[in-house]
Amino acid sequence: MMYLLDTADTKEIKRLMDLYPIEGVTTNPSIISKARRPVGEIIKEIRHIIGNDKMLHVQTLGERAEEMVDEAVKLKEMVEGNFYIKIPVTPQGIKAISMVKKLGIKVTATAVFTQQQGLIAAKAGADFLAPYVNRLDNMSCHGVEVVSDLVHLIETYNLDAKVLAASFKNVDQVHGISMAGAHAVTVTPKLFEHLVYHPLTKQAVRDFEEDGQRYYDLGA
Ligand code: G3P
Repeated sequence: MMYLLDTADTKEIKRLMDLYPIEGVTTNPSIISKARRPVGEIIKEIRHIIGNDKMLHVQTLGERAEEMVDEAVKLKEMVEGNFYIKIPVTPQGIKAISMVKKLGIKVTATAVFTQQQGLIAAKAGADFLAPYVNRLDNMSCHGVEVVSDLVHLIETYNLDAKVLAASFKNVDQVHGISMAGAHAVTVTPKLFEHLVYHPLTKQAVRDFEEDGQRYYDLGA
């Protein structure tokens, strides 16, 4: 499973990319608005930090398919490298997915809440499907189940799409989608650190330090 960061916080991207096997960054208009800077400025900075090989997912804002396609072309030109345009699975969005794919731009279908939305987006050519796990859980709609069904549909119909699960609030949700076979997950920097943290690991390392100090002089 690939891990991505769902953030436009460039300091955190830099810090966590240095530590962990993170394969890219996802953003959306709400995330960009929190950074309080123009989208072009932020995504160029993110690209500079992560390099050309890592994935960068940036979302459209327009409502009509033609606007989305126009945005996709402009955003791709701005950042180059391994770029995905995120397009919401509205009717116009599904149309835009097919159009953008014909231009050779990779697509992440986003704001996916149902299995059929995901399946149709995959048929339209989406490379990734992004179901919103926590927002589903908040409505008792079982985010992990939707992810699991999407993985199953992709396998059943031999589709090229992958599931990039999004919208998480806790470690258990992330564990749930990893067990369901999601191909990728995007989480906030804070949640990513929760995936790694355990108090007993910290304690074990403290104990090793204390026990080994006298016997670990490896010389200069
Ligand atoms: O990538 C989509 C994600 O940012 C939505 O997350 O926490 O706003 O539900 P959230």
